[in-house]
Amino acid sequence: MLNTPLPACKGILLAGGNGTRFYPATRIISKQLLPVYDKPMLYYPLTALMLAGIRDILIITWEHERALFQKLLGDGHQWGIRLQYASQDKPRGIADAFVVGEEFIGNDPVCLMLGDNILYGDRIPAQLQFAAQKTNGGTIFAYYVQDPERYGVVRFDENNRPVEIVEKPTKYLSSYAAIGLYFFDNRVVEWAKQLKPSRRGELEVTDIARMYLSEQALEVIQIGRGVAWLDMGTPSSWLEAANFIQILEHRQGLKVGCPEEVAWRMGYITSSQLLSLAEPLLKSGYGQYLQKLLESNVVREGYSALF
Ligand code: DAU
Repeated sequence: MLNTPLPACKGILLAGGNGTRFYPATRIISKQLLPVYDKPMLYYPLTALMLAGIRDILIITWEHERALFQKLLGDGHQWGIRLQYASQDKPRGIADAFVVGEEFIGNDPVCLMLGDNILYGDRIPAQLQFAAQKTNGGTIFAYYVQDPERYGVVRFDENNRPVEIVEKPTKYLSSYAAIGLYFFDNRVVEWAKQLKPSRRGELEVTDIARMYLSEQALEVIQIGRGVAWLDMGTPSSWLEAANFIQILEHRQGLKVGCPEEVAWRMGYITSSQLLSLAEPLLKSGYGQYLQKLLESNVVREGYSALF
């Protein structure tokens, strides 16, 4: 089992939004519930938070879709975590998560992850655990991409210090996109409440990051090219993500984004609890995988490969 840290920080998964870039596939179902190869999209960011050691998580959805998420994920006790739900009455912007989540966040720092992001790499859990234990300032992550104009973009100076962050810049600023994962101290709640909608009419998380930057309280960690960050903002990027997961899982025989496995490896549930979770799923390769995890060779050999 991992030496599980006890982060001060709470977690929020943002799983609302219009999903219009996915129409008609998302006309009657939320994008974050669509399968990405062998499991629902939200499993991937959920397991990222679990690997960060975060066990108290709020899931923000549209009100009318909340019941489906609850049916899928429950209250989290089966995975040794606590899941709560809140709703956005309209997609006001990513920073609205800190306003909707005010009561849940209380006096703690918070980590927000977008429900359509995947982060994969063996140093990622340690980096996230480190960020989750900070109680002051903000931490975001930057990733080199070929199409930065689609994202929030961070520009660094010659000493790799962040100097500017702009949402979807129209002119080239840098090739580093801000990924959809943000760690902020408790000031974020008040700052989010003061935000005004941007030109595109949204409460921008990039504006929050800029506030931390202007207070010299923003750490931007550049994620190396050995890590995969995928966002599923369009049908093509969704299919690419599914192909990526399929290739990795087929090659290694190890699953990516499997909450039962992460809960077990993090020590949130016992082996006998894992076995009971596997039993109703045994007709699928997923359930058989959970059962197989309990065989000692997979436990030993698959351990470092997973993290
Ligand atoms: O993926 C990383 C990028 O995510 C960052 O680089 C950008 O700085 C950040 O603004 C965001 O850009 P997007 O244009 O990709 O955000 P989008 O509007 O697609 O929303 C991302 C997810 O959050 C999506 O799954 C829907 C959900 N969402 C979005 C909004 C605006 C909500 O649940 N509620 C909302 O109000």
